Amino acid sequence: MLPCALWAQSASPRTKASVLSPNPLESPALDKKVNELLQKMTLEEKIGQLVQYSAGQATGPTSGRTDDIDMVRKGQVGSLFNVTGARETNALQRIAVENSRLHIPLIFGLDVIHGFRTTFPIPLGLAATWEPELVEKAARVAAQESSAAGVRWAFSPMVDIARDARWGRISEGAGEDPYLGAAMARAFVRGYQGERLSAPDSIVACPKHYVGYGAAEAGRDYNTTEISEHTLRQFYLPPFRAAEEAGAGTFMSAFNSLNGIPTSANPFTLKQILRKEWGFRGFVVSDWNSVAEIMAHGVAIDGATAARKAFLAGVDMDMVSNLYHRHLMQLVQSGQVPQAEIDEAVRRILRVKYAMGLFDHPYTDEGKESSAMLRPDSVALAKSAGTRSLVLLRNEVVSGSPILPLVGRVSSIALIGPLADDAGNMIGSWGALGRGEDAVTLRRALSQRLGEANVHYAKGSNILDGSDSDIAAAVGVAQNSDVVLLALGEDAPTMTGEAASRTWIGLPGRQQELLEKVAATGKPVVLILFSGRPLTLPWAFEHVPAVIAAWFPGVQAGNALTDVLFGVAAPTGHLPLSWPRSVGQEPLYYNALNTGRPEADPAHPPEKGERKFLSRYIDEPNTPQFPFGFGLTYTTFRYSPTQASAKQVSLSALERAFAEKSKHPTVFSVSAEIRNTGARPGEALAQLYVRLDGTSIAMPVRMLKGFQRLTLRPGESRKINFDLDPETFAFWGAENKFGLEPARVTVWIAPNSAEGEGATLEIVAAAR
Ligand code: NOJ
Repeated sequence: MLPCALWAQSASPRTKASVLSPNPLESPALDKKVNELLQKMTLEEKIGQLVQYSAGQATGPTSGRTDDIDMVRKGQVGSLFNVTGARETNALQRIAVENSRLHIPLIFGLDVIHGFRTTFPIPLGLAATWEPELVEKAARVAAQESSAAGVRWAFSPMVDIARDARWGRISEGAGEDPYLGAAMARAFVRGYQGERLSAPDSIVACPKHYVGYGAAEAGRDYNTTEISEHTLRQFYLPPFRAAEEAGAGTFMSAFNSLNGIPTSANPFTLKQILRKEWGFRGFVVSDWNSVAEIMAHGVAIDGATAARKAFLAGVDMDMVSNLYHRHLMQLVQSGQVPQAEIDEAVRRILRVKYAMGLFDHPYTDEGKESSAMLRPDSVALAKSAGTRSLVLLRNEVVSGSPILPLVGRVSSIALIGPLADDAGNMIGSWGALGRGEDAVTLRRALSQRLGEANVHYAKGSNILDGSDSDIAAAVGVAQNSDVVLLALGEDAPTMTGEAASRTWIGLPGRQQELLEKVAATGKPVVLILFSGRPLTLPWAFEHVPAVIAAWFPGVQAGNALTDVLFGVAAPTGHLPLSWPRSVGQEPLYYNALNTGRPEADPAHPPEKGERKFLSRYIDEPNTPQFPFGFGLTYTTFRYSPTQASAKQVSLSALERAFAEKSKHPTVFSVSAEIRNTGARPGEALAQLYVRLDGTSIAMPVRMLKGFQRLTLRPGESRKINFDLDPETFAFWGAENKFGLEPARVTVWIAPNSAEGEGATLEIVAAAR
């Protein structure tokens, strides 16, 4: 008999549970309005809705030019982006609403990626919080601020699974895991779109880049991707699916080709999966000029063909390439593009505009714009997100106790490094309207906390350019202090984000030299790494006693960091990706297949002499420097072996529950005892991993399927329980369908993807 447990929401945020209710795009009343308007539109006006321009770009309108205004007036533009400000957007909106024949409002978009004016940690840092609720709140603040500036559409979240740290855009997403990625995707969509998409402070989300963009070969931005259907469905699609189920109103197609077909001209992903299988009712916008890039990809030799292919594949709106504006009319007139397809795309766009309430409230209240920015509660949230994004990677014992937190024993501190006082960099890439001047650097926060005289600062070197470094001065400062805080890393604008792929991911410039010389003073060093990706720093991880991955923490960077450094808050972040030892390991991800010759398989240890012919490197372990899910805090935890409430479960019972999609599916549960073995209270992040063996297709060595936090006092021990529903075991099998199969299942409740003692059980075709 199977145990029957109620579904516990806390264990793993469920997809359907987060659907905006009712979905703002599903309403007969909405469809009626859309169809009525559609009937009044000329073909030119319809095509106009499919056209988007960026302010200031040669292809389209820029505010103030008479011919631009003319295009808006003639209804030849559906959306503008990169225009911000209530006054600026209102001025353009007025032309659309008051001067165009049918009064159809424009929708204003922007890359609101991790905040609008109040900058939160970069998305990778937000993912490191493993706190979807916090991310949802951050997205809500971003929505309130951007809507106050007339921007009701965020080109976010980026939900691309990224397994390769060379790719600069790994900083913009939630890392390598589909489960965590889906949780973050939902959180962003819910935060942006709020309770009601039509509320004036809600903005419409745009999950991107659909799809597979993060799998760019060799981590080189915009590069080719080859992804099997199984891998696409099992790993790359789930965060998009989660975003769609959460009610995302728009999607952005990508730059890359996927198995030879550009993703901005790919009917399989855009029409078959997104529209047909998922029933998406919003619209798809292309990425920047990606409709025209179809020619560079080599699947169109002229603009008209590129426009036709992208449009018929399911790209509803053309971002800046201008090819829809130029060619769609003629393509319809010549019968190459059916009028019905145009109507369908226009319907999708109008549906979103109606659902956002743009027809009823097209304008933004100019009087409320400035008071919406950087509100104290928003800034406090940014601090909390900054604090919770920090991942403590190393904290060795120095003179009898771990070096962090710096309590009691420190009277003078050396603060060294090019990122110690670089406010602009704290904002990270894609800062929207975030300003360096709003950001609190580590130097400023430390000086406020300890008094300027107690913080001995030396820049030591630049980030990139080593020419005017003063490493000797930094060493001198270190020598005269009790402890050294070293703030090193990447230059956010040039080394992270779009078009910022690297083949070598160590510390740029002369920072490694600075690090080694400062460490040679013998003073205890705390290395604070600011970066948009994991950096390969084998020397540091061997010689530096404490290391914090700080990503780019946003406007409250310094305050967030000092709270953690001094133990006002404990570090609680965990890695959303595998941290490589060397770049040659990339792409590196924990949820990989075992291979036929795994290097480390406790079940089959190699015979002596067999080691050579294993799937391994001769010069580096296979394992990462730090595994996915890893993160230290100021106490320690011991996890008991995982216990499962059943030894076997019947496939048919699971299948029944899976098919019903009932709220209380028949499940079983797993548990483990977690004990705080340290001297401080602390928060454990218990992670649930599953492995399936004996299936029709090889499945990863582990897959994240849930996580829960648990606060424990020193010495306290508590049982943690995960109730598992059938979806946990469902996957895209060899027969090209999503479902369940008989399997041997291993389940771990563990502190990260590399630890824990699992329980095994079986999914059997018939209960024995
Ligand atoms: C190109 C980027 O790939 C995309 O993420 C962004 O939203 C658009 N440009 C618009 O700026």
